[in-house]
Amino acid sequence: MKVSGQHFRTIWLKPDDERVVELIDQRFLPHRFVIEDVRTVEQMATAIRDMHVRGAGLIGASAGYGMYLAAIEAALRRSFDEHMARAAAQLKATRPTAVNLSWAIKRQLKSVADGKTAGEKVALALRAAKLIADEDAEHCRMIGQHGLKLIQQIVHKKAGKFATANPPCGGSVNVLTHCNAGWLAFVDYGSATSPIYAAHDSGLPVHVWVAETRPRNQGSKLTAWELGEHGVPHTVIADSAAGHLMQRGEVDLVLVGTDRTTYTGDVANKIGTYLKALAAKANNVPFYVALPSSSIDWSMRDGMKEIPIEQRSEEELKRADGWLEGQQVEVRVAPERSPAANYGFDVTPRHLVTGLITERGVCEANEKSIFSLFPEHAP
Ligand code: MRU
Repeated sequence: MKVSGQHFRTIWLKPDDERVVELIDQRFLPHRFVIEDVRTVEQMATAIRDMHVRGAGLIGASAGYGMYLAAIEAALRRSFDEHMARAAAQLKATRPTAVNLSWAIKRQLKSVADGKTAGEKVALALRAAKLIADEDAEHCRMIGQHGLKLIQQIVHKKAGKFATANPPCGGSVNVLTHCNAGWLAFVDYGSATSPIYAAHDSGLPVHVWVAETRPRNQGSKLTAWELGEHGVPHTVIADSAAGHLMQRGEVDLVLVGTDRTTYTGDVANKIGTYLKALAAKANNVPFYVALPSSSIDWSMRDGMKEIPIEQRSEEELKRADGWLEGQQVEVRVAPERSPAANYGFDVTPRHLVTGLITERGVCEANEKSIFSLFPEHAP
């Protein structure tokens, strides 16, 4: 997608040195656009853990490149396989919820196993890392094409009603999203944002309610920034405003991403997603989840019981950060002595999900419908 008119992916190989991975360090957005060079698997693990990169698809792509860097290191050591196993464990320990992480690591371990020499294994790891990234971008592009049809249907349904609605949402299809399931959360396009970009690019009137997504504000910092760079009309709202807007008929569609969805259709996503799904159900607003199949956990049946939920530091919740006179500053927003519980994700049960938008099309959030799109995973 575009940054100041120039096309960027979130992660790529340095053009003049393929042993270096470059990525957008998202900690500084929207105020500064910083590119980080990553040379070791250790540095990649830090980038994932400390959220220089984040979002399920990008976590997977970063792990893919991390395993490639590990292969370069392993080729210089006595035991290739031991170093790769250590690197896999190190990367896997960075963040627990997004299944794309272990999916990409497993895929890399499988691909290097086919190499006979260390040199061959490095070449295979490079090829797999590029493939994981390219597939992520292509799958997100396809999600955009399938999701576009849903937005077109809403445009047809709303025809004639546009003129009477009030700004900022009057005259538009109003999509509400949470967190950042945009191109910054993937390699390109995004999952939830891809249909929005496709609709905007094809001239449909679309406006996005962007929930700020406390405590890290991926909505107000990242989603608002990338929509703005692409020229998509949007409005940042407090997380707690979503129910109010739905009740007033100012949301046509809720569109979110996911970090892990079970093969039965339970959806783990950024904390606060579940409340939005409940409000959508109560107000008859369609609630769709956009995801590449790399975010489906084919081994998990019960999302509420089985999906590991990341718990992050108290400090992240008790402080807020922002920019002041060109400096990133942090301020305390809760009493120092009050304990805080900082859950990173929640699980929306399948019965609250209207549908899943995947690279192969739209399906219902249930086992039968998911397997009908992905029969190769059926038992
Ligand atoms: O903690 P983050 O920023 O990695 O969480 C990201 C989200 O929850 C997104 O909504 C998400 O990853 C789904 S789309 C990749």
